[in-house]
Amino acid sequence: MRFRVRPVTRLAGAAVVPGDKSISHRAALLGALAEGPTEVHGYLEAEDCLRTIAAVQALGADVTRKGPGHYRIVGAGLAGLREPEDVLECGNSGTTARLLLGVLAGQPFCATLTGDASLRRRPMGRVTGPLARMGAAFLGRAGGTQLPLAVRGARPLSGLAYESPVASAQVKSAVLLAGLAADGPVSVTEPAPSRDHSERMLRRFGARVETRGPTVTLTPGPLSGATVHVPGDISSAAFLLVAGALVPGGRVTVARVGVNPTRTGLLDVLGAMGARLGRAEGREDAEPVADLTVEATGLAATEIGGALVPRLIDEVPVLAVAAAAARGRTLIRDAAELRVKESDRIAALARELGRMGVRVEERPDGLAVTGPQRFRGGRVASGGDHRMAMALTVAGLCADGETLVEDTACVATSFPQFVPTLNALAGTEAVIVEDGA
Ligand code: S3P
Repeated sequence: MRFRVRPVTRLAGAAVVPGDKSISHRAALLGALAEGPTEVHGYLEAEDCLRTIAAVQALGADVTRKGPGHYRIVGAGLAGLREPEDVLECGNSGTTARLLLGVLAGQPFCATLTGDASLRRRPMGRVTGPLARMGAAFLGRAGGTQLPLAVRGARPLSGLAYESPVASAQVKSAVLLAGLAADGPVSVTEPAPSRDHSERMLRRFGARVETRGPTVTLTPGPLSGATVHVPGDISSAAFLLVAGALVPGGRVTVARVGVNPTRTGLLDVLGAMGARLGRAEGREDAEPVADLTVEATGLAATEIGGALVPRLIDEVPVLAVAAAAARGRTLIRDAAELRVKESDRIAALARELGRMGVRVEERPDGLAVTGPQRFRGGRVASGGDHRMAMALTVAGLCADGETLVEDTACVATSFPQFVPTLNALAGTEAVIVEDGA
């Protein structure tokens, strides 16, 4: 699959984005571990989150799809999951793999996880390390640090006070989920705050979770089922908002977007770049939401680093596109984590934006872009990374001439409605055409 992208002359209107990927995964996992029913509304029905649903079903949770995005999950309780009969396929989803490893660490049975070529390259030692210290056993490639991985869980696990070397919500969440099966409190201390959806949802399901400065502590105890309304994913909205900020005359509103402060680095950066942003706040369950509006205006360069990085880590590909269009030198640093995402996004951005005539300086921990530069239509490739595919499409909308974005089936991992959503904002002209070739 590939996208043919034509430069857009108009981008205006209101859009919705599908449910938040991070929150959807957590709703399925906590639902499976809880006692009693959980109702999830607005679940992200994209490949990554459907992998998590399939995994919890294989582990014995009773899942019913009651309508689009509406799932009822009857949990098995902390001690009620069963050994899966087959390998758990995590596809492209790092969150499925790492959070499941946390769940499985505390189950007294054996399970094997695998994933696609990208996921099999990604580091798992960052979770198997602390989970092994709690008492779980792992066997797998590269000394038990890469999928396929077999896990033999144990109960009870030992409590742990873990100092994580990376600001990663996946690591933090894996340890907290394992902590549900521990014989004492577990804590995770992070170098900078990562997204806190697990903490919020664990509390909503009745867990004792305390956050003090950089440290989160969970005291083991049962979970009870809850109702979860999943807000729109700010990481998907990011593509629409940046496109709206860049296309002359653009005005785009995205309704009901999750604006948890641990996720809104994109809004801070767009604001610092001079974007005209409007925000109407609301609140649903444990997460804040807002209708976000952006109006096109000339953008100026900014610096992105430090504690801001985990708050926008998934938005860097599309922010690099914004930076190329902005006046001045934008520097993104402290973001070496980008090299171990669905692809090495630092190398991919330098290479693929380079193919559109945009010079990007690749640095070990980020990149620098001096703008404004013109995007030249041409042939680029996602490398199988959904966020690269969508960021390059946004660049194509602002380019001189047609852009061919190759390898775009991956968009279905997080935002299956991406193309029709952007085409609707473009009005009558179909600016993006999906091409099966
Ligand atoms: C996620 C956390 C982030 C993010 C990923 C989803 C999560 O990864 O990049 O897309 O749902 O916890 P890290 O926690 O590894 O930084």
